[in-house]
Amino acid sequence: MSRPPLVFAAGVFYPGGEHITGWRSGADASSYLDLDYWTRFAQTAESGRFATLFLADELYVWDRFRSGIEHGTNVRLEPFTLLSALSQLTTKIGLAATVSTTYNEPYHVARKLASLDHLSHGRAAWNLVTSASDEEARNFGRDTHLDHGIRYERGAEFVDVVNGLWDGWDDDAFVFDKSSGRYADRSKLHVLEHRGEHFAVRGPLNIPRPVQGHPPLFQAGASEAGRALAGRTADAVFTLGGGSLASGQKLYDDYKRRALAAGRGADDLKVLPWFSPIIGDTEADAEERFRELAELTPERVQVDLLAHYLGVDLGERDVDETFTFDFDHEGFNQSKSGYKAIADLLAQRPYTLRELAWEVLRRRFTVGTPDTLAAHLIERYENGAADGFILMAPTLPDTLTRFVEHIVPRLTDHGIYPGEYAGDTLRENLGLARPAGRYAA
Ligand SMILES: Cc1cc2nc3c(=O)[nH]c(=O)nc-3n(C[C@H](O)[C@H](O)[C@H](O)COP(=O)(O)O)c2cc1C
Repeated sequence: MSRPPLVFAAGVFYPGGEHITGWRSGADASSYLDLDYWTRFAQTAESGRFATLFLADELYVWDRFRSGIEHGTNVRLEPFTLLSALSQLTTKIGLAATVSTTYNEPYHVARKLASLDHLSHGRAAWNLVTSASDEEARNFGRDTHLDHGIRYERGAEFVDVVNGLWDGWDDDAFVFDKSSGRYADRSKLHVLEHRGEHFAVRGPLNIPRPVQGHPPLFQAGASEAGRALAGRTADAVFTLGGGSLASGQKLYDDYKRRALAAGRGADDLKVLPWFSPIIGDTEADAEERFRELAELTPERVQVDLLAHYLGVDLGERDVDETFTFDFDHEGFNQSKSGYKAIADLLAQRPYTLRELAWEVLRRRFTVGTPDTLAAHLIERYENGAADGFILMAPTLPDTLTRFVEHIVPRLTDHGIYPGEYAGDTLRENLGLARPAGRYAA
């Protein structure tokens, strides 16, 4: 059986680009609230045949440290609202919204995704996150966020309920027969009656089954609990990428094994590592572009980002001293995998705080020319470390445009990236079958 073609997702977290101070280099920073800015983004990605857009999201403003307000770009449009608008300005590209399963109810989410899927003729998707910061908890009636394990338990039940609501109507339940006056066929409605640990949801959903049956589900959980959930339920998983080919292959195999153990096919779970390129005309030009971008980032922001990932305040530490830290992997309750990545880095060699903060920022980006960057992607895809990539452009709109103009053609010429969209729905373009309703048989 031939390998499914390479796929790309175009992701955005900071509206100005994935580099936290990318907003200083790209478009007019106030344009992030304009539909024109996002239309250009979506249409550029669509011209590069990206399978989907992906809007990352959190439910708070990063004001834990003063620098977050003074320098960060932590404000953004609400994903479903923006994607609904973009659904009318694009025709092929998928539209993935980030959804917190900790601060939403499954009925709301099933309904919004089904609506977006109908409006876009089968292009909706969701990125399930469990939310990891106390700031988010405080916006939703809690002082601290739920324990990591409970968040994932709730997330797993959330997925079951959403899928159950979507399956509540058979695909042909609505007959719309004007002559008889019959609108829907009651025998094709299955009321969910869910009563679980975290949710009690009767159903049915007040919208027909989505065009895609189940809009694809993306996840990025990297902890044991996160991987377990992805193996059982996700259609694609975003991984942090970076690292060596061998570590990418190990992670890839781990997710595939989990999908197989859950009774699914290995190709049913796509593994999409993060790819955040700095694209130069030459290696020296690429390094220069990175240096220019890094110089736009005040050191305070770099240190505060690291402090955020570690869940402490490093404001009193001397940046030139060797950095030491007592890791508490068991007790840490934000993103456990990000925390571990920093511990692994420190285990390799000593760093000053300044060096560590710089390295944590630097590791997010891959610096190169179109040739070396394309070769990197080809190597990962052809050697079992990736089914595709999530492009997190460090600066917008220029990095995305350069990627589409200079890297996409190299991948197509190499024969691994399609010259056209495979179909009209996101499932078709990801090479995923449409799930039958659970009652259809
Ligand atoms: C590419 C990528 C995108 C992510 N997007 C979001 C996001 O939009 N919102 C969010 O709260 N977390 C986001 N995360 C964080 C993950 O959902 C998850 O919390 C993190 O990978 C840690 O996983 P763990 O909690 O299983 O350790 C993202 C992670 C990755 C790698």
